[in-house]
Amino acid sequence: MPPSVAELLTTKRVLLCVGTGGVGKTTLSAALGIAAARQGRRTLVLTVDPARRLANALGLRAFDEHVQRIALPAMGGQDQAAALDASMLDVKRTFDRVVTRYARTPQSAQRILGHPFYVQASTALAGSQEYMATERLYECATCGQWDLVVLDTPPAEHALDFLDAPRRLIDLFGSPAFRKVIAPTTRLKSGVFRSGSMVMRGLQRFTSVEMFTNLLEFFGELSETFDGFVQRAEQVQQLVTGPDAAFVLVSACDPTSSDQAASLSRQLRAQHMTPAAWLVNRVLALDPTLGGDPAELAAALAGEWSQLGDAMGGDAEQTRRLAEQVAQTANALGRLAQADQAVVQRVRGLAGANMAVVPVVRRDEEPHDLMGLSHIAQALVADAQA
Ligand SMILES: Nc1ncnc2c1ncn2[C@@H]1O[C@H](COP(=O)(O)OP(=O)(O)O)[C@@H](O)[C@H]1O
Ligand SMILES: [Mg+2]
Repeated sequence: MPPSVAELLTTKRVLLCVGTGGVGKTTLSAALGIAAARQGRRTLVLTVDPARRLANALGLRAFDEHVQRIALPAMGGQDQAAALDASMLDVKRTFDRVVTRYARTPQSAQRILGHPFYVQASTALAGSQEYMATERLYECATCGQWDLVVLDTPPAEHALDFLDAPRRLIDLFGSPAFRKVIAPTTRLKSGVFRSGSMVMRGLQRFTSVEMFTNLLEFFGELSETFDGFVQRAEQVQQLVTGPDAAFVLVSACDPTSSDQAASLSRQLRAQHMTPAAWLVNRVLALDPTLGGDPAELAAALAGEWSQLGDAMGGDAEQTRRLAEQVAQTANALGRLAQADQAVVQRVRGLAGANMAVVPVVRRDEEPHDLMGLSHIAQALVADAQA
């Protein structure tokens, strides 16, 4: 038996919600966080892109990484004092801390942070959001303030960009070719890059020398921090591949989305990361046997209603038509529910024996408030115990 979601919430230190865009990662990260907090764990939800109403419910302001303490509403006999912490990822502030940590001297850190290229590089560098999400995750998971950190992953075009980011960085910064190009630029005033050299005269034809020198200077300065970056990326890698971390796949309740999640799951395993639970989101909460045979139901309804006589206005034809409409509607809803059940069954097959599969009900109202999220949280844990 794979560990239930309730077990994951009590035993892991890090849960990473992964899936393609729009499937419900942010919503379910918040719900998982609430469930853990209600179990008494000191929990932080680290979120990336909460919808505005959800951000409001969690007390978060855009681009602000301050940690917000949220008192959870009391629910059926549960601990009234439960509280959850939430924080948003601030890519630039996280990058600033990494640079400050790994620069050789405080002066050198100041030169990098104050460099005109820095703002661009820290926010627009390919993969920097993904990389900083894991960096912040590591900071929070190891600072001792929380028992569990739930990470809502960035809306990556390809969900795995996020997992690849630290690896790509290790590969890039650690590569001998990169070091050959960047390392000598720290000695800019000499060699081929000295002013007036043939190389510089050649370059002058294409670009402003000042701009180019600036760029080289910036990367030269930044290159001091590379060893630190690489070392940290390896630590992050160890954390997310280790026994304290588990991945929670999130998919929508349809075949395409489940195939995408299954593929994600295979790629995670290939990288020694453990997909431990699969949440199938927005499953219709209807009885699949609803309606049954529409002709039988229509006949039964028409029979019942005709006995009510006056209550239906006594018009047999009208009663029969109404019974038919009701029977057809019930049957259509039943078929939708059957399709959703079939997807859940299929997911159970795809997930195999090592992953808890939990259907999450599609709610009539988008779960933007703490009460809506708390209901999902309760179901996640209840279903896991069933
Ligand atoms: N179980 C659900 N029932 C109803 N609406 C949902 C449910 N889960 C998510 N949603 C809604 O779907 C939209 C996308 O969810 P979100 O969590 O932002 O997805 P993601 O983070 O994966 O992009 C949001 O508007 C959210 O409120
Ligand atoms: Mg999201």
